[in-house]
Amino acid sequence: MVTFKVTRVETTPFEGQKPGTSGLRKKVKVFIQPHYLQNFVQATFNALGANRVKGATLVVSGDGRYYSKDAIQIITKMAAANGVRRVWIGQNGLLATPAVSAVVRERVGADGSKATGAFILTASHNPGGPHEDFGIKYNMENGGPAPEGITNKIYENTTTIKEYLIAEGLPDVDVSTTGVSSFEGPEGKFDVDVFDSTSDYLKLMKSIFDFPSIKKLLSSPKFSFCYDALHGVAGVHAKRIFVEELGANESSLVNCVPKEDFGGGHPDPNLTYAKELVARMGLSKTHSEPNPPEFGAAADGDGDRNMVLGKRFFVTPSDSVAIIAANAVQAIPYFSGGLKGVARSMPTSAALDVVAKHLNLKFFEVPTGWKFFGNLMDAGMCSICGEESFGTGSDHIREKDGIWAVLAWLSILAYKNKDNLGGGNLVTVEDIVRQHWATYGRHYYTRYDYENVNADGAKELMAHLVKLQSSIDEVNKIIKGIVPNVSHVVHADEFEYKDPVDGSVSKHQGIRYLFEDGSRLVFRLSGTGSEGATIRLYIEQYEKDPSKIGRDSQEALAPLVEVALKLSKMQEYTGRSAPTVIT
Ligand code: G6P
Ligand code: ZN
Repeated sequence: MVTFKVTRVETTPFEGQKPGTSGLRKKVKVFIQPHYLQNFVQATFNALGANRVKGATLVVSGDGRYYSKDAIQIITKMAAANGVRRVWIGQNGLLATPAVSAVVRERVGADGSKATGAFILTASHNPGGPHEDFGIKYNMENGGPAPEGITNKIYENTTTIKEYLIAEGLPDVDVSTTGVSSFEGPEGKFDVDVFDSTSDYLKLMKSIFDFPSIKKLLSSPKFSFCYDALHGVAGVHAKRIFVEELGANESSLVNCVPKEDFGGGHPDPNLTYAKELVARMGLSKTHSEPNPPEFGAAADGDGDRNMVLGKRFFVTPSDSVAIIAANAVQAIPYFSGGLKGVARSMPTSAALDVVAKHLNLKFFEVPTGWKFFGNLMDAGMCSICGEESFGTGSDHIREKDGIWAVLAWLSILAYKNKDNLGGGNLVTVEDIVRQHWATYGRHYYTRYDYENVNADGAKELMAHLVKLQSSIDEVNKIIKGIVPNVSHVVHADEFEYKDPVDGSVSKHQGIRYLFEDGSRLVFRLSGTGSEGATIRLYIEQYEKDPSKIGRDSQEALAPLVEVALKLSKMQEYTGRSAPTVIT
């Protein structure tokens, strides 16, 4: 058996290794500096403490972006040197973030071992490649992101770090072939287990959804399907699940071969970046598609986000979670016993609130960030949750889950069409959404993103909005001067959340202006960018009148958009006359 020794390498701190909403994300050129990744990994081991590291079983994998291969070798060697017992690596280092969560929670090693945590190598929806982003985050034994107590400790450690441990004599692992390799170190045996990336995740999906009924839908000549992984890791799982298991045609997979640079694209599933899918689905303004598929979906780089489209029809993520929640008990076997509760992030539209009220479900509004759902789920208070940022999921794991969302939609379509596939018209995605609006009312919704703006300007804009909140009368006067016929603001604040499970309080979670008719304007600074600042503006308006639910959303929201831009002095503070992305 190959043996290795432990080397202590002297190092000095790097500035700025503070993990954000979803781990540490920086440009590759920052990550490849000697000792940079190593410092962060050692800081993580030190924050976890010996009892969580010695003898641990760690998953190390990610979305396959540039620098992942090197990072996997470095982390494996550092894990060995720190007394970790086993490292589990998805084949080729590829595991979608939800698949990591599933593996941590469900996988049992050949020797009966269970994972105790995971390093996920991804910068999610940010572009990849030598000049783009890399990222790393640590997930705990429940399969969810490390809580703030740990991430703060990691950061503290990065500011004082003096040395890290790395195994000397441990060869690079061949991540392309499955199998277990064993090594011997000063603290005993160390195993590297390279395993099939999809098996465990697939097993979990099969325990949640009725695969035969989805298969029937996909094989119906009335139905057509398209999935775009934007060259992210979801492509690996999609091929296995949609094509091999559910019988979809291979040609329905677009950009499903993972690439280190995502083919030069921006792997974020929205109407701007998922261009190919948008065109195929007949939603492009410049290209006309004669016969788009009935259903289309896209994923982000690490496969936790999703965008759902019907034929020439966009489903907002806020509507998507509401519709899944409204239909889950009937359409998805996992939920047949009822829902424990539902939750959304604050900027997500209130469509889910209305469903929760109708169905008499427990409901939670949490700050942006999946970890807030995780706490509720661990406490058995929430079954389904979602965010406007194209994240949807359930308590089957502790991450949002892009493929789960697609399977949920396919399940709803299969359920609504169970008597239609032989004869009768297909109930389409658009039909389902319009029926939902007719029942629950419609939340017109849009988000304006101003990416990579000057950070000082962004801060000033936010400060200006907070200051305005001290006088609602003044705000209403300004608004009347901009557009006279919108409703008036009845409440304005910065969103604050007290976690009902652990009592922790999160402040400054976004600036809200709430209108009498249920409309909302929300302003937030993104927590996931890696350069400059990104301002997000969320605009929402509720319409209960069935005769008014069919409007174009940009047109319906135009007056509120104008109010938001002028009230915030967007152009003044950012120098931008238009947003980077509108969804
Ligand atoms: C990640 C998190 C989500 C969150 C999103 C917000 O995807 O997992 O929970 O909604 O970031 O991103 P932002 O850029 O708006 O902070
Ligand atoms: Zn992601």
